[in-house]
Amino acid sequence: MTYVVTENCIKCKYMDCVEVCPVDCFYEGENMLVIHPDECIDCGVCEPECPAEAIKPDAEPGLEQWLKLNADMARSWPNITQKKDAPPDAKEFDGVPGKYEKFFTPNPGEGD
Ligand code: SF4
Ligand code: F3S
Repeated sequence: MTYVVTENCIKCKYMDCVEVCPVDCFYEGENMLVIHPDECIDCGVCEPECPAEAIKPDAEPGLEQWLKLNADMARSWPNITQKKDAPPDAKEFDGVPGKYEKFFTPNPGEGD
């Protein structure tokens, strides 16, 4: 069991989630974060902290694609434990459909 970061994080990347995780299991891509499923202790603290409501428990149906993406990217992206500034246009991308197809990139972020 783990929580996963889903599509609406892309280009919103608010990073409020990283501040509350007790085990620092968030990893940073260029325009989204993911959770390492083997490190997450399933505490649920991060879920209500995300302004974009992008964090979901993997027990929810239909999240297989996102669980795989979180697991794959957490292996190559750097760890992030401190909130940075969200993108200036984050609000404009909140809820935009098709963000994965249009904007997902495997490029890593900078990490802490
Ligand atoms: Fe971290 Fe808990 Fe969120 Fe898992 S559910 S990513 S352990 S805050
Ligand atoms: Fe993304 Fe939400 Fe965290 S937008 S960076 S999962 S606070």
